[in-house]
Amino acid sequence: MRKKLLVWIITLSTCLRTTLGLYKIGVGIADCTGPAAEVTFMGYGKSNQKGCGIHLRQFSRAFVIDDGSQRAAFVSVDAGMMAYGVRKAVISRLGKQYKDVYTESNLILSGTHTHSAPGGFLMDFMYDIPSLGFVKETFDALVDGITRSVVRAHENMVDGKIFITTGELIGANINRSPMSYLLNPKEEREKYKYNVDKEMVQLKLVNSANSLIGVISWFPVHPTSMNNTNCLITSDNVGYASVLLEKSLNKNSLVGQGRIVAAFASTNLGDVSPNTKGPRCVTTGEECDVVSSTCDGQAKFCVAAGPGEDMFESTKIIAEKLFEKSKILLQSSEAKEVTGPVRHIHQYVDMPSQNVTITLPNGTITHVTGCLPAMGYSFAAGTTDGVGEFGFAQGTRSTNSHWDTLRDLLFKPTEEDIRCQHPKPILINAGRISIPYQWQPRIVSTQIVQVGEVLLIAVPGEFTTMSGRRLRNGVQETAVRSGASPGTKAIITGLSNVYTSYITTPEEYQMQRYEGASTIYGPHTLTIYIEKYKQLTKALLKGEKLDSGPLPADLSQRVISLQPRVMFDTPGLMHHFGDCLLQPPKSARVGSKVRAKFVSGHPRNNLMTEKTFLTVEKLADNGKWIVLATDADWETKFTWTRTSTLIGGSEATIEWEIPSDATPGLYRIHHFGHFQHIFGGVHPYSGATDTFQVTK
Ligand SMILES: *[C@@H]1O[C@H](CO)[C@@H](O)[C@H](O)[C@H]1NC(C)=O
Ligand SMILES: *[C@@H]1O[C@H](CO)[C@@H](O)[C@H](O)[C@H]1NC(C)=O
Ligand SMILES: *[C@@H]1O[C@H](CO)[C@@H](O)[C@H](O)[C@H]1NC(C)=O
Repeated sequence: MRKKLLVWIITLSTCLRTTLGLYKIGVGIADCTGPAAEVTFMGYGKSNQKGCGIHLRQFSRAFVIDDGSQRAAFVSVDAGMMAYGVRKAVISRLGKQYKDVYTESNLILSGTHTHSAPGGFLMDFMYDIPSLGFVKETFDALVDGITRSVVRAHENMVDGKIFITTGELIGANINRSPMSYLLNPKEEREKYKYNVDKEMVQLKLVNSANSLIGVISWFPVHPTSMNNTNCLITSDNVGYASVLLEKSLNKNSLVGQGRIVAAFASTNLGDVSPNTKGPRCVTTGEECDVVSSTCDGQAKFCVAAGPGEDMFESTKIIAEKLFEKSKILLQSSEAKEVTGPVRHIHQYVDMPSQNVTITLPNGTITHVTGCLPAMGYSFAAGTTDGVGEFGFAQGTRSTNSHWDTLRDLLFKPTEEDIRCQHPKPILINAGRISIPYQWQPRIVSTQIVQVGEVLLIAVPGEFTTMSGRRLRNGVQETAVRSGASPGTKAIITGLSNVYTSYITTPEEYQMQRYEGASTIYGPHTLTIYIEKYKQLTKALLKGEKLDSGPLPADLSQRVISLQPRVMFDTPGLMHHFGDCLLQPPKSARVGSKVRAKFVSGHPRNNLMTEKTFLTVEKLADNGKWIVLATDADWETKFTWTRTSTLIGGSEATIEWEIPSDATPGLYRIHHFGHFQHIFGGVHPYSGATDTFQVTK
């Protein structure tokens, strides 16, 4: 009897909670910055784009929502993308602490897609090639940081409410494959004003006293404002937007340490560039060829940039636009409260073996199938955000005997492969290569999380603008038909859980620009996804169970690492680690830049997670030094250089752009690090500059 009563009370309180729109919510942020030097960045696929320091740190931002009976967690991570191995490790770690509270069904991990963060965490061999295989330091930093962010969110849950708002943001994104987009049917394109989505969608999380605790803003744009010559770790435009918003919401707290957490998460950004001046020929300043993105037949001369004078300014301008828009949305009186249950569903899908029935516009019923993963020629061309290294051009639909010979050494495509991927000329027949292990996944993660009227569609790659629209529409319509409220809003959470490159529409695929060449399961990849996500939606809303699907391969015991480890450091003759080699000027004005150099150890000796390689400090009236900035601030740059490989000598250069609102007074710059002794052992060291005066 007592038990019955208890069940009844719990049921009633759950109902009340959801109908009133009261949830338990928690937010958490944690540092997940990878090794700051020598590891190749993941994004541009340029093997010599290796880390040389830090501009902005990488953070993991977690949001946990519970309706009293079901729970879901969304995590946005400043990383190139998410990977199966990372998620598996995170779930296992959370399991040790919270049993089965966080599962592959209710936890979404979404990468922001910054192209300036260390790689080597994907495990699938092809994606780890630029970083010389698996890099355990990157992997561990991500797993530790993501886990810590979820734990922090979990431990800070309060009663709260959720609101949704949308708004249009102009001037922050352009389509980088407009010719492919134009292949989509005219009637479809006419439904949309632009060839990229301009809508920012925002979820606002407040506590029961209506004060803000977290915000997630989705806006489609590639974090490629920083180009492939950058070697400082940075979270790029979206990451800096988060830093700006968190700074403005958490007065007086250091970056990454505020109570309110603000993510700018990825969505259907596949063909969307932040380089708003568009592609130009670096040689002449003229427009490039629009189909191939070349100048005089060469892709390397066709590069997109802007809106700023250099990549730092461009990053800042795009970030400020995102930040300003998100602030306006936060204050919007049109925000709608989200009410209703939390639900989630997940299924692994073996893409190459899918066979989906579709109805053609003329009424003919036919079947389309997936293909084994393969990359086309134009994949090697790269994009106008970052061109490839081997002289390929986009829009390539024919093959070349020289490259085919090389390709065939790895695995010659079969007739079936060629037919399936048509018109893609296969450059890397990844799906058939198993040496040394899997090159690209064939099993993907498909997942939807529902929070009341909001459906988060977690997708395993980069959907182009139109692909994203078709998927959202398909899911929304299916949801409403399955009993969801007519106001249901579907949001694509990009680069989630597993990474499988791009997803174009079948029409865009025909042109075989970079995105089409990187749509790995063939022309019908999107068609299959839409079908699969519709099935998920229906099952989710009807409360039906779906088969969990085949488990992806666990590559963690097979990975190869060729990244050399740090051998040792020496400070050089007559020096100690932390010695200041270059002092800042005795006096500097606000708005100017100061610079200091130190004898340093290798930054890979200790990643300084949740710490910093530098502090900018101000002398307070009470004689104490107050930390005003760390290596996670926009105004500071930490650059590391090897001065001698032979004796393991290195220097750290620290730059500080004195903010215009800095208060005059006495300042110093502090450097922290670790050195590796020649006979083993890693030891901390630090050093500070002389004090200097900051004046108006
Ligand atoms: C990257 O940006 C810098 C300006 O910050 C510019 O000088 C350089 O040419 C750009 N490189 C590429 C490959 O886009
Ligand atoms: C797809 O399924 C249909 C109907 O079950 C079948 O007729 C067709 O042969 C299948 N196609 C492939 C390539 O397996
Ligand atoms: C319908 O369209 C498809 C593809 O364009 C074509 O192969 C087929 O013959 C058409 N069927 C009819 C009945 O017109």
